[in-house]
Amino acid sequence: MIAIYPGSFDPVTLGHIDIIERGAKLFERVIVAVLSNPSKQSLFTVDERMEQIKKCTQHIKNIKVDSFVGLTVEYAKIHQAGVLLRGLRVLSDFEKELQMAHTNKTLNQEIETVFLATTKEYSFLSSSIVKEIAHFGGSIDHLVSTNVAQDMYQKYQNQ
Ligand code: PNS
Repeated sequence: MIAIYPGSFDPVTLGHIDIIERGAKLFERVIVAVLSNPSKQSLFTVDERMEQIKKCTQHIKNIKVDSFVGLTVEYAKIHQAGVLLRGLRVLSDFEKELQMAHTNKTLNQEIETVFLATTKEYSFLSSSIVKEIAHFGGSIDHLVSTNVAQDMYQKYQNQ
C-alpha cells in the first residue's frame, strides 16, 4: 500500500521526520507531498522545502519527496495511494484533522486517513513554533535537522 504524507512542511521538523520514519515502516512506499499553495505566504519555497526533506530523509529508502497543487485526494489517486498519513500531536489537532479526514472521505471513499500519534517528545512541536523561535534568535537545533537549522538561521539573517 502506498501512503501519501501531505503537508506544508515550512519547514520540516523532527516531528515530521519521526512520522515519515514510522510511516515508512508501515507502508510499502511513502510519498511526502509538499502542498504548493501560492495564496499562503511561506518562509521557504516549495523547492527549498523539498530539498530540506530530501536531505534529512536520505536514510529512508522507500520514500519519495514531491509537491502538489490542488486536492490531496486527487494527488493520491494519480499516484495509486490508498492512505493519507497524518500525525496527531495534541487534542487541539484532533478537530481540524478529523474535519480534513471526513472531507477527504466525501471526496474519495477509497482513500483512508491513517493517524500516527506523534512521539511524545515532539507533541508540542510545529513549524510555526520553530519559525517563531528562530525569528527571535533562539536555538532550534533540538527541533529540526542540522540542514534545516542552517537554512533557517541564514533566512532570518538575510531578513
Ligand atoms: O501541514 P499542514 O499545513 O497541516 O497540511 C495541511 C494539508 C496540506 C494536508 C491540507 O491543507 C490539504 O490537504 N490541502 C490540500 C487541499 C485539499 O485537499 N483540501 C481538502 C481537504 S481539507
